[in-house]
Amino acid sequence: MTLNVALLGTGRIAEYGYIPAINKIDDVNIISVLSRNDLKGSEFAIKHSIPRAYVEIDDLLGEKNLDAVIVCTPDRLHEEQVIKSCRAKKHILCEKPMSTSVKSCENMITEIEKAGIIFGMAHNNRFNAGLRYIKDALDSNLIGQVYYARAMLTTQQNDPSGWRALGKESKFWAMSATGAHMIDIFRWYFGEPKKMKKISLSPKFGSINDEITTLSLNFNEKVVCDITASAILPPINRIEIYSNESSIIGENVFGIRTDEKIYHNNEKIMIEPISSFFGEVVDFTNAIIKNVEPRSTYKDGIENIRIMTDALADSS
Ligand SMILES: NC(=O)c1ccc[n+]([C@@H]2O[C@H](COP(=O)([O-])OP(=O)(O)OC[C@H]3O[C@@H](n4cnc5c(N)ncnc54)[C@H](OP(=O)(O)O)[C@@H]3O)[C@@H](O)[C@H]2O)c1
Repeated sequence: MTLNVALLGTGRIAEYGYIPAINKIDDVNIISVLSRNDLKGSEFAIKHSIPRAYVEIDDLLGEKNLDAVIVCTPDRLHEEQVIKSCRAKKHILCEKPMSTSVKSCENMITEIEKAGIIFGMAHNNRFNAGLRYIKDALDSNLIGQVYYARAMLTTQQNDPSGWRALGKESKFWAMSATGAHMIDIFRWYFGEPKKMKKISLSPKFGSINDEITTLSLNFNEKVVCDITASAILPPINRIEIYSNESSIIGENVFGIRTDEKIYHNNEKIMIEPISSFFGEVVDFTNAIIKNVEPRSTYKDGIENIRIMTDALADSS
């Protein structure tokens, strides 16, 4: 079976995340792309050998041989695009964060369930080799009872005039760009956190959205996890996991990286970095073909948003 997909958006993640990944998968074809601008869309389509470009999403969704869309637009646009895609009965891979509020996610979920389509939440870091090594170590009890973990991740999307900072197409800045990934990884490792402490500030640009957010999550009164998401610090990309006898330290483990490093009890582990977008699209395709849940679902999407929203509520 060949899967025909459309990219919604012509930005960074569409071009550098999805196109190279899909080009490596034989039975997935990108047949169309959505852009607000006719010329920009056509140029993007020609550059990447995509047959058609659309300005109107309804026209794009009207193509009978389209099976699925990949939502790669700013966060606040996800709700409307997902709902329209559901109503057109297209499967959906939606970029993180799922949306900008819990209510918005609930609106999306109502339509996803009504349509009966496959919805993949694009938490791509679950497919990165280093973070998967840690998941396997936890699941096979190679580290013992973990008591403490922390992650720090800064984004290169640090333009104070970009959509993440301005608040019209987004609700979160640092938390959208990097917090969503770290929350997802710790939920994947440890389950649902029950309590949280948080501080969120915008000390450099006075942005309406968060420039730096730190939160501490309590998982089942057993594990404390600290997360620091930043749009204003120099590059940091790190995770640390500690039990009372062991540690795993990961450097450059989030995102599209070729320089991932994992140290288990100070010993360097041999891992083979892969494009997490490749793994994510293969998983999404398999979910459609076999009619099973993808590795990350809308339940992960809405729980992630619940934590992000709580993290920014009255935090100072
Ligand atoms: N999984 C990851 O690691 C990861 C990494 C980065 C981003 N993301 C997520 O992917 C989504 C897109 O991020 P991105 O970095 O690709 O953003 P981006 O580079 O700014 O691209 C977004 C694209 O959306 C389209 N768009 C439609 N309406 C828009 C509007 N009002 N303002 C700006 N752009 C608009 C634009 O295409 P046209 O100009 O052609 O309309 C634009 O190129 C976000 O939800 C983000 O959180 C995920």
